[in-house]
This record gives sequence, structure tokens and C-alpha cells, in this order.
Amino acid sequence: MRPSIVTIPDLKKKAVTGEKIVMLTAYDYSFARFVDEADIDIILVGDSLGMTILGYDSTVSVTMDEMLHHAKAVRRGVKRAFIVADMPFLSYQVSEEDAVRNAGRFLKEAGCHGVKLEGGVDMAQVIKRVVKAGIPVMGHIGLTPQTVTALGGYKVQGKDAESAGRLVEDALAVEDAGAFAIVLECIPAGLAGLISQKLSIPTIGIGAGLDCDGQVLVVSDILGLFERFVPRFAKQYVNLAPQIRQAINDYAAEVREGRFPSAEHSFQDGDIPDLAPRAEDRG
Ligand code: KIV
Repeated sequence: MRPSIVTIPDLKKKAVTGEKIVMLTAYDYSFARFVDEADIDIILVGDSLGMTILGYDSTVSVTMDEMLHHAKAVRRGVKRAFIVADMPFLSYQVSEEDAVRNAGRFLKEAGCHGVKLEGGVDMAQVIKRVVKAGIPVMGHIGLTPQTVTALGGYKVQGKDAESAGRLVEDALAVEDAGAFAIVLECIPAGLAGLISQKLSIPTIGIGAGLDCDGQVLVVSDILGLFERFVPRFAKQYVNLAPQIRQAINDYAAEVREGRFPSAEHSFQDGDIPDLAPRAEDRG
């Protein structure tokens, strides 16, 4: 594993001094480079790639092999950021041994710096075991997409006193288990602020208001690349989809009309001996 420049103590220090932590997803080499060059603190190889890149209906279908494939590509594009990989559904719930083995693969095979897994009190023992093996773990509570069916859909969590209390307990259990940070997804801003005050580890919000120690969003959402489902909490900073469609249509039209390639994108006769393979080389 190649070390990142951003470290866990850096992230904890930011939370203490009030400097916001910035986290964003990336799923491949090119986007990892863009995100890293913007000095984002944490790059998440999120299992949201199941929907945004692989076209599944939810994150439930994502496999370890798929996550590792994307995590390796991201790793190759990153020089500075702390890289966290999402543990996919059923890679950590079946047994603690499975959880340690699978989490370890993200460090050993993909060069990531930590893993994220969903769940609170129920997952505390698993987090403890993975952390004990020397693998940094980020928790994730609130709206947990891997169990969205059990939660009754993509809904704000912790809206009444009882469920809010359970989320506080979940957050404390994740911290006690040794997680280095926790994602709070889709919970009321006041509750996220309260949890952030109670915890000493950094809280990273997504649809959880301003009072978290940092924020995370899905890169496809902020760039307008995933049109099938845009959560209300996701701010679109640019809408690239229409520009991409336009570029592809322009290319197709130019080819069909014989306008591409022009002389600028063609080689002249003098280039042929250097560039074209000889007939005998082609076999
Ligand atoms: O998979 C993902 O991208 C995530 C973020 C939404 C936090 O878990």
C-alpha cells in the first residue's frame, strides 16, 4: 500500500480545529486524478458505482471483484488523498473473518487506505474486528443504501425521537468500536449536529446539514452525469450530460457527412512510411 499524504491524524485535526473535511467519490483513473488535483481530502470508491457506472438498480448487487477493479483504477490516479473503499453488501455481514479478509483485500490488492461499511450497533463487533486487524474503518449510518429495502425506501432517517435516539446510539457504538470517522446520510440537520457534538471522531454528512465536520457527495451527481435518480441533497455544480450528448451527436454527424477527419486530424502522404506497419509485420 502506497501511503497517502492526507492521514487520519490530519482528518481528526481538521475536525478539532473546525476546518471542513471534503470527501467525494471517484470510480476510475481519470476522475480520481481530477478529484485528487482539487485537493479533496478523502476519495471514496463508493459502491454507488453499482448504479452510476455499472447500471444496477441499487448497490446490493455490487461484488468484491467489481469494487476491487474500480479501487485499483482510482489508486493509480491518486497522489495525495486518503482513499476509502466501500465494502459491498454481504462482504462483511456473514462473518467477522470474511469482513477482515475482504477489508484487507482493499489495502493489500488495491492500495486503499481504509474501508467504509454500513451499520451501527449491529455492526459494532465487525468494525472492532476489522480495526483490530489494523484496517482503518469509516462507519456509515442513517440512510444506508445497502439495506434500503428494509428501511422502506430512500427516506430521511431519525425524524422521530425514538429513531433519532437509535441513531445516536449507532453513532456512539461505531465510535466505540474504533472507527476513525463516520458518514451520516440523510438525517435531519439538528440531529447530525448533535451527533457531531457527541462524537470525537469526524462526522461526514450527506444530506445531513452543515453542522458535520465534513461533507461527501457522489461525483456523478455534482457533475450531472447520472440522470436516473438525483437525490434532493445533491447539488449539481455543472450539468455535463447535455454537453456530452451534443459532442457525441456532433461527432456522429461529422462522420456521416464526411467532415471528420479533416486535414488537421489526418496524416499526410510523407507520414506513411513512419506510421503504417509494413505488410510483412502485419503477418
Ligand atoms: O457509495 C457511496 O457513494 C456512498 C456515499 C453516498 C456516502 O456511500
